[in-house]
Amino acid sequence: MSGALESVSLDRMFRGERLLLEAHNLKKYFPVRGILFTKGYVKAVDNVTLGIPRGKTLGLVGESGSGKTTLGRVILRLEEPTSGRIVFDGQDVTRLKGRALKEFRRRAQIIFQDPYGSLNPRKTVYSLIAEPMKVHGVRVEDTREYIIKLLYQVGLNETHLYRYPHEFSGGQRQRIAIARVLALRPEFIVLDEPTSALDVSVQAQILNLLKDLQRTYNLTYLFISHDLGVVRYMSDYIAVMYLGKIVEMASSDELFEKPLHPYTKTLLSSIPIPDPKIAKSKARIRIPGEPPSPYNPPSGCRFRTRCPIAVDKCLSEPPLEEVERGHWVACWRPGEL
Ligand SMILES: Nc1ncnc2c1ncn2[C@@H]1O[C@H](COP(=O)(O)OP(=O)(O)O)[C@@H](O)[C@H]1O
Ligand SMILES: [Mg+2]
Repeated sequence: MSGALESVSLDRMFRGERLLLEAHNLKKYFPVRGILFTKGYVKAVDNVTLGIPRGKTLGLVGESGSGKTTLGRVILRLEEPTSGRIVFDGQDVTRLKGRALKEFRRRAQIIFQDPYGSLNPRKTVYSLIAEPMKVHGVRVEDTREYIIKLLYQVGLNETHLYRYPHEFSGGQRQRIAIARVLALRPEFIVLDEPTSALDVSVQAQILNLLKDLQRTYNLTYLFISHDLGVVRYMSDYIAVMYLGKIVEMASSDELFEKPLHPYTKTLLSSIPIPDPKIAKSKARIRIPGEPPSPYNPPSGCRFRTRCPIAVDKCLSEPPLEEVERGHWVACWRPGEL
């Protein structure tokens, strides 16, 4: 199972759980073109190993530009990996082609932040849901009945069947996007910031809907967000990403009770705290500056240029190691901040 360069042992991380999805040493480098030559590469995803047990949620957090979307797209084969391996339900899907790839693409779906972009404005709800079913060869006795049932499951109904995306609110559009994906009977869904564009109250409704559907259909989620509060609510496990690399990974409870990477700590301390009394008593750790570019990341530990406790040793890259049982951290000074 594990490659020579593998950082995380998935067996040790997910003791006894059956993994639906595995990524091994995944890399995605985008070439940066100069006038004559390729000048270098944006290392958007750099040697990521992770797993997701069937029926569970892995939250993926990190600031904008850390490579979350790219990782999600590579896992789904929407983007070819530069190197590494993707395993789905025990099968290596890294180089699938033709019918087998098509079947994988039915079983593994994605929902985006902005359902405006993914829903064709000229199509009715009915066609938006029926057309992908046709493409993927999903057969049902009565398509209309099937779609109405799905609409009820996501909190809509038959009066919405022949309306167009612009007639709906943001939250309703996201419900349509969810029904559309569900119609294909997927097992795995990448949720890429699915509620970031919505008002807080609507956001909670959509998150609860996603949780209900997960229970009903035993769905497996990769839940991407830059919002740690939302990720905590949704996830069984959490991976923290910084400039293309996973810097910390653990169960959700463990990560929140005992964050060990200075980056995770700073992220946690920037969660908005609604109660002003608590907010005042809790000194905030600020992350100085913007994240450096993944085109030219710092040598050694990539976080060292913003880390409050960086030392000389951080000029060499810390490996991702199991610091506590099932708790992996890439830091020379875990837990010291
Ligand atoms: N198609 C692409 N070509 C070149 N660079 C890209 C491409 N897609 C993403 N990137 C770069 O990869 C890095 C990671 O981006 P992304 O995966 O979108 O991060 P996140 O989702 O965490 O905000 C960014 O520096 C981004 O500019
Ligand atoms: Mg993104």
